[in-house]
Amino acid sequence: MRLFEKTMAAMQAIEDGFRRIPPETIPEKCTGCGLCVKVCPAKIFVLRDKKSVISADPTSFCIKCGHCLAVCPAGAFVDPEHRDVEPQRIEKKRLPKPEALQMLLSARRSVRNYRPEPVDREVIEKIIEAGRYTATGGNRQDIFYTVIDSAEKIQALEDMVTPYLNKILSLSENPLFLMFMYLTGNLELIAVPKMYAPIVREFGELKKQGIDRFCYHAPAMILVHTKKMDQPAGFGCAAALYSCSLMAELLGVGCCFNGFVHVATNYNRKIKDWLGIPRNHQCHGAMTLGYPAIKFSRIPPRDPAKIDWR
Ligand SMILES: Cc1cc2nc3c(=O)[nH]c(=O)nc-3n(C[C@H](O)[C@H](O)[C@H](O)COP(=O)(O)O)c2cc1C
Repeated sequence: MRLFEKTMAAMQAIEDGFRRIPPETIPEKCTGCGLCVKVCPAKIFVLRDKKSVISADPTSFCIKCGHCLAVCPAGAFVDPEHRDVEPQRIEKKRLPKPEALQMLLSARRSVRNYRPEPVDREVIEKIIEAGRYTATGGNRQDIFYTVIDSAEKIQALEDMVTPYLNKILSLSENPLFLMFMYLTGNLELIAVPKMYAPIVREFGELKKQGIDRFCYHAPAMILVHTKKMDQPAGFGCAAALYSCSLMAELLGVGCCFNGFVHVATNYNRKIKDWLGIPRNHQCHGAMTLGYPAIKFSRIPPRDPAKIDWR
């Protein structure tokens, strides 16, 4: 019984950690239109005497999405945690046209040739700002960014990543392991690592000659991570990093996602610790950054979207 009570108390503490302070209504401004009641996903508002009030329902669980504040024509909401922030008005005229967005999405390319100059912190902050409004499960906003803004530190990271990759990838060439994977019906799982094993070995050799094929001598890198317990947050992290890459493109900064660093960070504690990423976090993406030393002028073809209409 004591264990049960302890478990429940621990669970309550975790749940309380998720609870957010709901927005406050400004009764003098509320016109009683009821839009907040309609849009609130947690259904925390009710109309009483033609005014919106927060219901006393103890199961109400405000996720702090701000939809009440965003929808209210009268500006009758204030976020007590952001009192000093005047909510920005949406300017529809400033939104890009669909063709412009499609051009950005199609024209961005992975950049693997960087100029050596650093990317200033202000520019990196602008890039990360593009990820801040990413949708997250339950609006938890639990996306963490780790930034390395020195080429030397990226090289030090690579010095840890390369031997680790060589070790795990060589397993994919072990005949006994391959037979085991075949017998257990998992051979396909090992195909990509097996393909990469000789490439990674070659990259290691090139590195000895001063040629960096892992991170392309990039002057900066961003990693995104989140708590392991939050399954949907992986989607949020990936989406945020992708948004960052699009903003980088518009700011003239080239990027390349980096599966090597991403994977090694999750499976090697030494690397995770070196990066200062908490052990209970999972990395969901890494991306090198730098000013491009090349310019693309055409959009390469891609396969048609694999759509299954039902
Ligand atoms: C999750 C992920 C991991 C990637 N890892 C690497 C990598 O480690 N090294 C690299 O050179 N490119 C990497 N890429 C870039 C892909 O090779 C690239 O996106 C793809 O070839 C398409 O080219 P594009 O980005 O220019 O359209 C990665 C891309 C993704 C989405």
